Amino acid sequence: MTFDLFDALPADPDTPPATEPLGPGAVVLRGFARDVDTRLLAAVDHLSAQAPFRHLITPGGLRMSVAMTNCGEAGWVSDRTGYRYDPADPDSGAPWPPMPEVFRALAERAAASAGYPGFAPDACLINRYLPGTRLSLHQDRDELDLRAPIVSVSLGLPSTFLWGGLRRADKPARIRLAHGDVVVWGGPSRLVFHGIAPLADDDHALTGRTRINLTFRKTR
Ligand code: SIN
Ligand code: FE2
Repeated sequence: MTFDLFDALPADPDTPPATEPLGPGAVVLRGFARDVDTRLLAAVDHLSAQAPFRHLITPGGLRMSVAMTNCGEAGWVSDRTGYRYDPADPDSGAPWPPMPEVFRALAERAAASAGYPGFAPDACLINRYLPGTRLSLHQDRDELDLRAPIVSVSLGLPSTFLWGGLRRADKPARIRLAHGDVVVWGGPSRLVFHGIAPLADDDHALTGRTRINLTFRKTR
């Protein structure tokens, strides 16, 4: 039997995670959330037991393939009347569950690493993708304070992130996002069109046939 010593060495804890520029004011922080991945996923299970994942209806009457829930002071929802941030879960009438400290701390740390110190998210949209699920190109523009960035955490199955431009017609770049990667966009990139290509089927050790995405926003 052969044994490669290098394969057995743990990753150097002093090596900072790689930061990849995506555009002005936008970066991918590779593996940034890995050190808290199991805590994040346990919190998602806990939160979704209180506010279950659901498929929202777009203003145009289509059922979204991504299943969503929220935590924090407000949650992003869509129905026939439009998109909005709502302090209550429309399914139960109850306030959304509070944002777990592990969520808030990670989002602040990622924003600071990307050049946005003092990020104070008040909402976190939790997206669940199964194989075949996609999210079409859109802007995040329902927040009142567009000076704050968006912090987006990928967990579980890898995906292809579509990163377009400021016009819907701009051809998007295709960026591979893996478990633990965090994307931060703000400043001149805050209103860039983005989306997720249909999720490829695979099996992830922590999430099975599922991708979870957390997006942190400052809505007011
Ligand atoms: C979003 O745009 O809200 C989610 C993006 C993602 O799932 O990575
Ligand atoms: Fe978005």
